[in-house]
Parts: sequence; C-alpha cells; structure tokens
Amino acid sequence: MEMTRREGLAAVLALATTACSGNYSSPVNSVGAASTIDSLHKLAKAKGMRFGSAVGAGHSGSGSFRNTGYASLLKRDCGILVAENEMKWQSLRPDPLSFNFAPFDEILAFAEKNNMATRGHTLMWHRPQWQPSWLEAYDFGTNPATEAARLLTTHITTVTDRYRGRILSYDVVNETVMEDSTLAQTAISRAIGGTETLVDLAFQTARAQLPDAQLVYNDYMSWEPGNEKHRAGVLKLLEGFRARGVPVDALGIQSHIRIDTYDPSTGTGPRQEREWRKFLDEVVAMNYDILITEFDVNDQALPGDFSARDRSVADYAKAYFEVMLDYPQLKDVLAWGMCDSYSWLQEFKPLRTDGLAKRACPYSADFAPKPLHSKLAAALQTASAR
Ligand code: XIL
Repeated sequence: MEMTRREGLAAVLALATTACSGNYSSPVNSVGAASTIDSLHKLAKAKGMRFGSAVGAGHSGSGSFRNTGYASLLKRDCGILVAENEMKWQSLRPDPLSFNFAPFDEILAFAEKNNMATRGHTLMWHRPQWQPSWLEAYDFGTNPATEAARLLTTHITTVTDRYRGRILSYDVVNETVMEDSTLAQTAISRAIGGTETLVDLAFQTARAQLPDAQLVYNDYMSWEPGNEKHRAGVLKLLEGFRARGVPVDALGIQSHIRIDTYDPSTGTGPRQEREWRKFLDEVVAMNYDILITEFDVNDQALPGDFSARDRSVADYAKAYFEVMLDYPQLKDVLAWGMCDSYSWLQEFKPLRTDGLAKRACPYSADFAPKPLHSKLAAALQTASAR
C-alpha cells in the first residue's frame, strides 16, 4: 500500500503550482449566490473551534491566494490557513545556506490582512523523497551527528524566529512513521544517529524557541482498513515522546480519508470505526490534543456520476466528522484545499480509472458548494461547544 499511496508524489511537487489550473479557470460565483452560503469558520467559531484550508502562493489559475475566485472561498470559510508547500524544506531551502521566504511571506501577509491565523507546515517532512535533493546527498563531514544537529536546529530556529508571534502552531515533524510502523530514515536521520534522536531534537528545539506554541506531530494514519500498522506505529511514537519527556502537544490527523473500494450496499467505502475510536481514545488518554490538518476525500473508487458521487463523498465525510467531533480535544479543522480544481489529489496516484477528476473538496470547479460543504456545516452546527 505504501508504494501506491505515496508513489509518484515526488514528481508532482514541481507541478504543484501549475497543476489543475488549465481546465478549471472558471469565473467567481456571483456575490448574491455567495451570501447565502454558510461560513464554515463562523459555524466552527460558535463552537470554540476554527475551520481553515491549505493555500498556495502560485499563479492566479491555481489554489493560490492570487486566484480571486479561490481567495473568495477562503475568505468566506476560513479562519486559519496553512501553506500547501511554501514552508517545506523543498521550497524554503534551495541550498544548505539560504532560505527562500518570499512565497510563504506572501501567504502569511494574505492571512493576516484577512484576519486569519496561519499554521506552520512543516519544520521536517521526514521522508527521503520530501527532503530537498541537496540534503539527501549532503556530505555531513567527519562529525556527522554534530553537523546534522546544526542543520536541523539552524533551520528550526531561523524559521521560528522569523514568524515569532505570528505562527502559534507548527507541524514540527510530518510523517516519520512508515505504514509498516517502523520509523522513516533519511540522510539527516542517519547522520544524527537515528530517527528518534532527530525527531526529539526537532521538538526540543521548537519548544526552546516557542514555549507557548502548539507543537504537533502530523501523520496520515487513517480509519480505512490497511492502516492498522501505521496507527500502531504512531501510537508507539506518541508513547515514546511521553516516556522521554519530548515536548509534543498534539497529534495532527491529516484526514485524507479514502474510498478505495465501493460498497454498493452503503454507497460509500469501508472504514474501521471501532478501531479508529480506540486509536483516538489512546491518543487523548496520553494527553495529546488532536487536529484535523489536511482533510479531503479521495473518491477514486466511486462510480463517476457527479451527483451520486458528491452525495457519497459527503456521507462518508459526515460519518468521519461524527466520530471526530465527539472529541473535545479537536478544535481545529483544516481542509487540504477548498476547490476540486486545485486539489493535489488530481495528481495523486491512483487516478480514477474513468479519467474523471476527483471530487474531493467542499467546492466544485465552478466554485459552487457541494453536498460536502453542507454536511461539514451541519456537522459543525451539531458539534458540542468546546
Ligand atoms: C502535498 C501538496 O498538496 C502537493 O502540492 C505536493 O506536491 C506534495 O505535497 N501530506 C502532507 C502534505 O503532509 O504536505 C502533502 O501536500 C499531502 C500529503
């Protein structure tokens, strides 16, 4: 599963800002129509929660704040944003010495101008294919552990210094648990003497920098069958953090939920609800908060028809939110994009066999809200206050 789920992603980072732009550059909805649509953040806020989305800094035909149609969706629905790629090492670190802050700075400026918070994603995406190629090929010299620690801590202190007081929640480490429950290894983790050493140092450095920020471990273990080992690996990592006194406040649950097989009797896909609740219970029992950091619905196995598909996607999400919102530890819900046209899933393998676009987000290509939007609104409306 690992290979099919993550395969081919490396190729798309370069395309991230241009992907999915061509076919969908539809005009913005009329203001009249827009005013009747619920603001998801407003509904969340009434419950002591926040709703938000990923956004990019690409051109005006992408899921960027520069796209006026997309920006109007963000302004309607979001109280918090996260940069889809612009804070990752691949974007921030063109080489070992320099930082390219400009694209992220623009996203932050857009958020602040519109009174939205911003999350930091991510100080270390700990998978070899998501490290900058210079880092995977880096010569750590005669004292590799010291050099690796220097590189990591310099990165974290530079970024957190720059955004001090403006970013209050970071995905300090992203995806260091593999789907077979072992820990990922990269050039920098080998140089420093092991993944735990690297990850612990990342959190310790972030905490020393930001005593009051929310420090998050973020990963994609999910509720579908096939995630058992991944979930177990994440629990083990979280237990280890507590045993070692590593300062981690919350688990970021990416929530790229998936309909991998179609069950005509339910109209959606299988999930392990009981096991998922057990997982969440164990996480909160260790005193971690939880966040939904990257929500979308991969509908690749659903039949093509749009209206039936949109209903199935919405039903599947509704079932998911019914579980998640039971946990008062959940206060932030972020979608990984608001509009189907610009979703990363359009490039993520496997693609739909019928060649149609995935319908993964709250809004369709013409910026019209889909049943997923109304189900999210309803879920937030019925959530208990926190
Ligand atoms: C994805 C972006 O959406 C793509 O544009 C990029 O090519 C690859 O990364 N888990 C994460 C996110 O933590 O950072 C990923 O974002 C999606 C999966």
